[in-house]
Amino acid sequence: MSDRLPSDLAAIETPALVVDLDRLDANLARAAEYAASHGLALRPHVKTHKSPYVAAAQLRLGARGLTCATPREAEVMAEVSDDVLLAYPPVGRARARRIAGLPTPLRVTVALDSEPAATELARAARDARREIGVYVELDLGMRRVGAPTLDAAVALARHVSESDGITFEGLAFYPGHIRQPVDDQDAALEALDSSLARALERFHDAGLPPRVVSGGSTPTLWRTHEVPGVTEIRPGTYVFNDRQTVDTGACTWDDCALTVLATVVSTAIPGQAVIDAGTKALGREPMTDIAQGFGQLLERPDVVVTRMSEEHGILDLGESSWRPSVGDVVRVVPNHVCVAVHLQDVMYGIRGERLEHDWPITARGRAQPTS
Ligand SMILES: Cc1ncc(COP(=O)(O)O)c(C=O)c1O
Repeated sequence: MSDRLPSDLAAIETPALVVDLDRLDANLARAAEYAASHGLALRPHVKTHKSPYVAAAQLRLGARGLTCATPREAEVMAEVSDDVLLAYPPVGRARARRIAGLPTPLRVTVALDSEPAATELARAARDARREIGVYVELDLGMRRVGAPTLDAAVALARHVSESDGITFEGLAFYPGHIRQPVDDQDAALEALDSSLARALERFHDAGLPPRVVSGGSTPTLWRTHEVPGVTEIRPGTYVFNDRQTVDTGACTWDDCALTVLATVVSTAIPGQAVIDAGTKALGREPMTDIAQGFGQLLERPDVVVTRMSEEHGILDLGESSWRPSVGDVVRVVPNHVCVAVHLQDVMYGIRGERLEHDWPITARGRAQPTS
């Protein structure tokens, strides 16, 4: 904690991220207990918090390791973890070399879906004189990345196992296409289960049994045990939650741990108030229904951010009797918390009314080397 920690919320310059530490602790504990009770390895995705402090708390609660998307995240997380997965194709020489250059003896695994990516990674690993684990990525319905067919996936795993510098460790998939409410996921989870079972059979028949099957997201988190082939889960958003997570029923409104603290800067136009959180604080990710706007006030859920400029958020007061004054401070629950976090340098942790921490968002940005 820095010596310059503001005395209380009122002393913080807005827009700023505020984390309710009691809610964060409860969210972390709930997922850790779920994973332990179902024998699942928890490897949380750090893209949500980008903070070594939150990562350290996840590891203290039993997380097996961490999941990262960017080399920067992995470099920062190497300070608190000895086991990191990069769940992003290591394509491009600069990216592969940066991954291979992560400090040793950090255990590094990378998910990928193509031979060029595997070949580049193997070369970088050999040059760095280290061994890097590989998960072969499957597409189980997300239609984003993943080997195009099971034959291609098996061939890729064979290529990996025959390449010096990299080792075939298992399979990865991301069920990000399952965003329906938790109670409506039966059919989607059954489809996932049978696709995964087919894949596992093929890998066993090919003599390449995966040691790990890594999947998991926040919307499917609490039902992962219904897909028995999965051994490892990688939820990220669950630490803070957001409006989209509430929408899926994977959390309640009271589980939203992170808000954007904002100040009312204008009430000049009747029927609305303007806050200092626009797209550069909240992002511009819509809800399924675009009419639901871009954020919602924690303490007044009848007030929604309906329009934004870069530094202005327009609160629609049409459904509310609340009439704010210039200078009032509000807390906005963003639609997608991971984007809101990545837009700031620091998050402030509060317990009740007390300000306890200012945590730098150390792993944000790319940190490409400059001359
Ligand atoms: C590859 C991968 N794994 C895990 C996650 C975490 O999912 P969620 O944000 O639903 O917690 C993501 C999210 O983008 C992802 O892309």
